[in-house]
Amino acid sequence: MSKNLSYLSGRKGLDYNLFEQLGLRARSTGTPDAEDVEHLRKEFLVGSANVYGSVSFYDFLREENKGKEVYVCNGSACMTAGTQEEVRKHLAEEFKEEAIGEMCCLGRCHENHAFHYQGRNYSGTDINSLASIRKGYKNSSESYHVACEGTPVLTAPYPGIEEYYRVFTKCLGHSPQELLEELKVSGLRGRGGAGFPMSFKLASCRDAPGDVKFIVCNADEGDPGAFSDRYIMEQRPHSLLMGMLIAGYITGASHGVLYIRAEYPESVAVISEAIDHLVKSGLVGKNIKGSGFDFGFKVIRAQGAYICGEETALLSSIEGQRPEVRVRPPFPTQQGLFNKPTVVNNVETLACLPYIMKNGGAAYAAIGQQKSTGTKLLSLDGYFNRPGIYEVDMGTPLSTVLHKLGGGFRVPVKALHIGGPLGGLVPITMVDSLTVDFESFAANGFLLGHASVVCLPETYPLVSYLRHLFQFTAHESCGKCFPCRLGSTRGYEMLEKAIGGGYKIDRKLMDDLLETLEAGSLCALGGGLPLPVKNALKYFDKELEQYFK
Ligand SMILES: Cc1cc2nc3c(=O)[nH]c(=O)nc-3n(C[C@H](O)[C@H](O)[C@H](O)COP(=O)(O)O)c2cc1C
Ligand code: SF4
Repeated sequence: MSKNLSYLSGRKGLDYNLFEQLGLRARSTGTPDAEDVEHLRKEFLVGSANVYGSVSFYDFLREENKGKEVYVCNGSACMTAGTQEEVRKHLAEEFKEEAIGEMCCLGRCHENHAFHYQGRNYSGTDINSLASIRKGYKNSSESYHVACEGTPVLTAPYPGIEEYYRVFTKCLGHSPQELLEELKVSGLRGRGGAGFPMSFKLASCRDAPGDVKFIVCNADEGDPGAFSDRYIMEQRPHSLLMGMLIAGYITGASHGVLYIRAEYPESVAVISEAIDHLVKSGLVGKNIKGSGFDFGFKVIRAQGAYICGEETALLSSIEGQRPEVRVRPPFPTQQGLFNKPTVVNNVETLACLPYIMKNGGAAYAAIGQQKSTGTKLLSLDGYFNRPGIYEVDMGTPLSTVLHKLGGGFRVPVKALHIGGPLGGLVPITMVDSLTVDFESFAANGFLLGHASVVCLPETYPLVSYLRHLFQFTAHESCGKCFPCRLGSTRGYEMLEKAIGGGYKIDRKLMDDLLETLEAGSLCALGGGLPLPVKNALKYFDKELEQYFK
């Protein structure tokens, strides 16, 4: 059925797209009008159940979002900082209670308190200027540290559009196969979490039959605590766009789609402007610079659903379907967007391509470790003395990032949640054992993931953090498989009751639940939740024992 829906959705193509149309119709009131939805579903030849399934899935399309005017960031970093109540209190002085919603997360983790109003994000002292913001007198402002220890691949100063043009022209002078070889030599692995070699994906898509192919940039950076993709989109947009162009040339894809999360309105604006710049420079369109290669970009604004960061849910989302995770095979490189061969890569992965093509795959492979080549961006939250984005060569000691670059902690910290909600919970005592690379984290029972760092201060109850992780998963579960759909809610309920007092969690039951989630979940949302929970049970058993029998 969903295969047919993919074809149907593809009939209209990318430019006039059901998902986007639903989003546009929700802008003024927070949810699309029922008549509009009915009209659209007829136009797109889909059933009422299908379109209802989509609309009711997203935070910023569903009926409950009606009338929301302002949103508090409820991401993990704001939560452990304990700032959300204060932000909400201030907002309640200017807005009606029912007009205040929640967004997760606004990527302002470096300031640890943030809110969203009319297409803009605010943080820091902005909360004291609500009246001016409402009158349109005040723009949002933010600052965070950016530095590099090692080779600046992604944080190097912007070299100007001409330099990107030179690199891309150089690429057009080589065959796609030669560029693919260069990429293979570089050893570049996906930065979105799984660490899959990029060259395999591109080769598979290139070899798949078909004239229409897609390069999809996963810019749904949903991990609370992460803002490195946002940094690239807003500060180095051309690295990303040029990366997509190069990936298109290698695979024979003519369409680049950027799926950017709703919580990053500024990223949408900067990327759109950068695309216009490329169009004006003749680097996008038909027969680019007489090479016979065509490429165009399409920006899709997401509508608030963490699971849309999972690559197959993301593709269903673009197609206007309910974003449920798909069973693989077939892999997206064989049957992806609209059932056409599609490469899905993370922002940071794609943004490495200009460096690799300019300096050669071997130069990139010479940075970092044998299996984890190149550099990695880390996002440090507001509990650091110098919060921000740091680029390091793979293999750099984690303590260098935390202490030398980040300047250490403002308050005593007991654990770090690294790599998003599905990443490992690293006790502070383990920091010296870790280096920033996939292998070191895996060997020690953690996950590098997207390398966001959220601090848990000594005063923050770990049991509340575990409840938050189960609650987050329950809210974001796509519902396709039972272990995740039911298990996340049951886990939340157990922790909630234990926190309430008079109830102790049966440890055997919790262990069974974690095992079922790990073994029986279709994707890494349900399958990944047990990792931080197990870490907590292992390293913080003394603190947690009062909640278990
Ligand atoms: C629940 C879930 C959320 C994810 N969120 C993201 C995300 O926000 N950004 C991202 O690039 N990858 C995310 N991924 C990983 C993608 O499925 C996919 O592996 C990635 O986009 C591939 O790009 P890469 O090879 O460049 O890493 C997520 C995976 C899961 C299971
Ligand atoms: S693990 Fe959760 S999010 Fe993933 S497919 Fe199953 S229900 Fe959906």
